[in-house]
Amino acid sequence: MNAFPLIDIQQVSYTYPLQNTGKHKAQSSRALQDINLQIQPGEYLAILGHNGSGKSTLARHCNALLIPDSGRVLVNGQDTSDKTQQRAIRDSVGMIFQNPDNQLIATVVEDDAAWALAIRGLPSLLIAERVEQAMHAVGIYHLRKQPPHRLSGGQKQRLAIAGVLALRPQCIIADEATSQLDPLSRREITALLHQLNQELGVSIIHVTHLLEEAALAQRIVVMEQGRVVMEGTPSAIFADLDQLRQLKLAIPEPIELAARLRATGLTISKEALTVDAIAREIAH
Ligand SMILES: Nc1ncnc2c1ncn2[C@@H]1O[C@H](COP(=O)(O)OP(=O)(O)OP(=O)(O)O)[C@@H](O)[C@H]1O
Ligand SMILES: [Mg+2]
Repeated sequence: MNAFPLIDIQQVSYTYPLQNTGKHKAQSSRALQDINLQIQPGEYLAILGHNGSGKSTLARHCNALLIPDSGRVLVNGQDTSDKTQQRAIRDSVGMIFQNPDNQLIATVVEDDAAWALAIRGLPSLLIAERVEQAMHAVGIYHLRKQPPHRLSGGQKQRLAIAGVLALRPQCIIADEATSQLDPLSRREITALLHQLNQELGVSIIHVTHLLEEAALAQRIVVMEQGRVVMEGTPSAIFADLDQLRQLKLAIPEPIELAARLRATGLTISKEALTVDAIAREIAH
């Protein structure tokens, strides 16, 4: 991994402005403290952490939605504080959010997927071609004439991903994009992100508080109070359940079970992190 990083976060600290009211009012502490993190082209990175640990703040620094107070973020070598680069940076690092309804713009699925391209004034033939490809890639082509509000939560998230994908991004950030979905749709969206990563080579930054969603990432960083407190492969991170519990992360039952069985002397590979993989190990 000696390639030029796609996103290079260097000694970044950030505090939200004090005039904010509402649910964040009494907060004056730093949301990010001295973060150093590089995301490589084609990488699948999970950012884990409990509520308020700084995941979204970090994610928003990756596509120039927030600019560091100190330190800097480079995307493809371009500084996110350079206003002339922000449009290009946001095109190459797309983002999808928690609430699928907040991301719907148009009244027909295919127009919604085309929206970002349309406001950029691209030729309509090119838009049509890219949108068709994006809708196929996320599995909603058959829904293209539907009104988006008729879609299920999972289908709405697929549509949001299609809209981002149509811009041909190098990276997609999914910020708790599954947290309002039922468990099945949650797994399907996670599988879709993995598929886009593998088939199209798009880097994925998967922000979540759920360990099970991070299990198949290439690398995990865990955040706590605005700092990166753990970093490593899923098997290395999942090896320290006590620390994960201290960081207020819920340990998935299969992982807990595997750890207990290991403690009784059973050999279960530390690489087995999903229900299926653990079941296979036990069956052996
Ligand atoms: N708009 C804002 N104004 C002021 N403070 C904020 C704002 N957004 C977040 N914060 C504060 O910054 C810190 C980090 O919040 P952030 O939203 O990045 O955490 P998170 O890990 O994404 O949390 P969650 O799991 O709830 O999404 C928290 O203390 C939070 O209260
Ligand atoms: Mg968040």
